[in-house]
This record gives sequence, C-alpha cells and structure tokens, in this order.
Amino acid sequence: MRASLQKQPPGIQTKSMLNLPNKLSPLYSATYPRSKMARAEVRRHTGTNDLQRTAADPCIIEIDVLEIGSGTGLLSFMLAPHVRSLVGVDTASGMISAFNTKLASLTTPNLCAINHCLTNPDSPELQGACASLATQRRQKVEPPYRVDLVVSHLTLHHIPSLAEIFATMYACLKPGGVVVLTDYEDFGPEAIRFHPESKRPGVERHGIKVDEANKILVQTGFDEVKVERAFVLRKEVDAEDVEGRVQEDMDFPFLVCFGTKR
Ligand SMILES: C[S@@+](CC[C@H](N)C(=O)[O-])C[C@H]1O[C@@H](n2cnc3c(N)ncnc32)[C@H](O)[C@@H]1O
Repeated sequence: MRASLQKQPPGIQTKSMLNLPNKLSPLYSATYPRSKMARAEVRRHTGTNDLQRTAADPCIIEIDVLEIGSGTGLLSFMLAPHVRSLVGVDTASGMISAFNTKLASLTTPNLCAINHCLTNPDSPELQGACASLATQRRQKVEPPYRVDLVVSHLTLHHIPSLAEIFATMYACLKPGGVVVLTDYEDFGPEAIRFHPESKRPGVERHGIKVDEANKILVQTGFDEVKVERAFVLRKEVDAEDVEGRVQEDMDFPFLVCFGTKR
C-alpha cells in the first residue's frame, strides 16, 4: 500500500484518479481490526499491522476527502495520514464526540468531523469545515470548496434515499473526482442477519444491491461506474435453536462502489 500510494502524482483531479479506489479497498477492509481476515489484508499490503505508523511518511497524496458517516473515525484516522485533508460528516453527536476525543491527541490534525446531515454541497457547515482545515494548512482556496474523493463505509444502509445521497456526493466533487463507497451487500433474505433485531431501527435497507447501486450511480451522472464485491466480513450473528437464541458466525460480502465525476 505504501509503495502504491507513493506512485500517485500530486494534485490528482483527472481520470488518473481511477486507480486510486483499488488502492483504497484494503484500507476499507482494515476498518474492522477485529477481523483476522482484515488484519491479514493490511499486513499483506503494508508489511505492518499498524497503518497509523505511516503518518510520518511522505506518501501523502494531495487530495481533499469527504467522508459520509464518519462515525468514531475508524476509517478517517487511517486515511488522513495519506491525504491533504479529510472532513467527516455524521448525524450522531455521540459519534462526533468519540471522533473528537481521538482528534485531541493529534498535534496538527488535517481532519475534522461535523455533526451534520449533508444535503447541500454549499452548506455553511461543510464549507466552514473545509475552510478551517485549509486555513490550518495555510492554504488560500477560493470557495466553494469541493473535494477530490468521497468515501463512506457502512453508512449507505442507514440513508433513506441512495439517489439523494449520491447526488449530494456528486455535487461535492471536483470534476474528475471519485467516489469510493463500501457497505455490505444485500445478497438475499439472509442479509437481514447483519444486524440483530435490537439494532434494526434506523436501518433503511439490509445491504446494498449491486444492480440498484450501479443504476443509481449511472443515473446520478457518474462515469466509469463499477460496483463489485471487495471483501468478506465474518461476523457473529444471532441464531435460533430449540433452546433459544445462540450465536453463530456468518460471512457477509462487502461491495465497493466506484464512480468518477465527469
Ligand atoms: C455503522 S456506522 C459506520 C461508521 C463508520 N463509517 C465506521 O465504519 O466505523 C454508520 C454511521 O453513519 C451515520 N449516519 C447515518 N445516517 C447518516 C447521514 N444521513 N449522514 C451522515 N451520517 C449518517 C451514523 O450516525 C453512524 O455513525
């Protein structure tokens, strides 16, 4: 991973970004450090278990990233050392607090998270966050701020309208920018088991359907759309037996959705 990222030219804003998503997918699988498979994947690409170690390396690509549903920052804090800036948006104040606790330990953070339901690329909340990160790195950028990359992990299944969020993502991108989105696949009725019953309120769909995501990304205007299985997460799920509720392991395929803005 380290070597691949170093090969990226700075200031990428064109279709040369297209090979970036493939390089990001191991980072996604790494967002689940409990998973042995994910750890093995990270080791395979980096030679280390600890992606944060690369923070001091000069392998930063000069791109600005927007993350939808940043949560506690599992993915954000892994990506941030490799990019110029990252703004996370999340609608849960508890998630933002946990993110900010992690942030407090960094001396010169290039990332932040805002408690915001993003529907407008020009929202003062998003523009303000981008402006403040640009100021921190002493860079003068003419607003409106747009990003090179939009990422999202395990969040799409919470969002009521994929068409609306994809349109918002598209509007937030610079021309040539890229979306790389992962979530578990709706591979059939069994996909519902990803969440135990107690966690199903707030889940809008039990995973993402390949054809549906593909179609909506294309309808949104994205170019070079690709929706494919990227990795598998083995997860404990509830199961019923004659004695009552027990736990068992189940594999959930994860999709990665790519698209570029013309
Ligand atoms: C399952 S968590 C994933 C968090 C993080 N991406 C990770 O992988 O650890 C889903 C997150 O999406 C957030 N969320 C739900 N709807 C959202 C929306 N419309 N906009 C932004 N965040 C949202 C939730 O608050 C939650 O933090």
